[in-house]
Amino acid sequence: MQSYLNLRRELALRPRTWLVTGVAGFIGCNLLKELLRLDQRVVGLDNFATGQLRNLNEIEAAVKPHQWANFCLVTGDIRDLDVCRETVREVDYVLHQAALGSVPRSIEDPIRTNQANIDGFLNMLVASRDAGVKRFVFASSSSTYGDHPDLPKTEDRIGKPLSPYAVTKYVNELYAAVFAQTYGVEAVGLRYFNIFGPHQDPNGPYAAVIPKWTAAMLQRETVYINGDGETSRDFCYIANAVQANLLAGAADRPGANGVYNVAVGERTTLNELYLMIKTEIEARVPGLRIAEPQYRDFREGDVRHSLACIDRARAELGYEPTHRAAAGMKEAMEWYLRDMAAVSPADSSTAR
Ligand SMILES: NC(=O)c1ccc[n+]([C@@H]2O[C@H](COP(=O)([O-])OP(=O)(O)OC[C@H]3O[C@@H](n4cnc5c(N)ncnc54)[C@H](O)[C@@H]3O)[C@@H](O)[C@H]2O)c1
Repeated sequence: MQSYLNLRRELALRPRTWLVTGVAGFIGCNLLKELLRLDQRVVGLDNFATGQLRNLNEIEAAVKPHQWANFCLVTGDIRDLDVCRETVREVDYVLHQAALGSVPRSIEDPIRTNQANIDGFLNMLVASRDAGVKRFVFASSSSTYGDHPDLPKTEDRIGKPLSPYAVTKYVNELYAAVFAQTYGVEAVGLRYFNIFGPHQDPNGPYAAVIPKWTAAMLQRETVYINGDGETSRDFCYIANAVQANLLAGAADRPGANGVYNVAVGERTTLNELYLMIKTEIEARVPGLRIAEPQYRDFREGDVRHSLACIDRARAELGYEPTHRAAAGMKEAMEWYLRDMAAVSPADSSTAR
């Protein structure tokens, strides 16, 4: 089994060409940074539906000029098969992240979610098959576990989907398996469990909980907790997800297919998460007083508990998470504080 350290060494010696779809988004731009730092060539595809140019500018600033020169951005839409075909030409590995995320968005707009997440996915898969890419790695989701009660979640036991978003991610997995069987495409699905970290957007109605709460606390706004706060998640720092993608893409495992949980294997309740973020912020912004959270109704389509078994990813991908939730939170907080800059230390002295 190839370790991530060995894979990084090997990649640095032998650059390959990667296509990252959704490259201007949270996970996509973190993949871009790691790949460029390993002197890989990267083609990025994005239509900026939710991604931001700002993320790419920040990655440019974080890598060396000669590494940035290895990046080619295509502004385009995965719903257009020609765009997918054009972008995937001469690519070794595809890391397909582009999609419309968020359970509530899919409940409000199932058609647009379906178009990006299923039509767009199928376009990328067909284009990748026809271009003969070495491996097609794609972002699936823990939402595919649906209403299955088992904890921890193991890849083979899933329930009924609880949202249109979950349906789209499950359909992705079905298509990938059929393409593997029918056309011999090497396709690997990564079921992400609440990924968090730098570049995750705190704004908008569909923002993820960690950046949303962090921004609210820094701006002295009320934090709302859906339900009683005992809902739990397996929060996974972005470095772990990046590792899983590179291992799934380039690790030497001919005939690789299937789906893998990408998580830490550790459960944090929303009440614990609230305290974790609050403690980190208060340690860094002296004088900032953070109010008690407000509790409101449970959110439609949400599962109550989520916790992953990561044995399969460990055994078959060589995945070994480097960051537990608390350690990831410390790293993420440095970035959130710089990025949001809503409360500067000077400002905080007047905070009530
Ligand atoms: N962040 C998480 O915790 C999490 C959990 C489970 C699954 N996922 C999946 O991981 C992937 C990346 O998520 P993220 O958190 O980085 O989200 P994100 O919204 O930050 O990034 C998605 C990117 O895809 C792009 N995109 C959307 N529709 C497109 C289209 N039609 N054509 C081209 N580009 C398009 C967006 O502009 C954006 O840059 C998604 O597939 C998401 O469903 C994320």
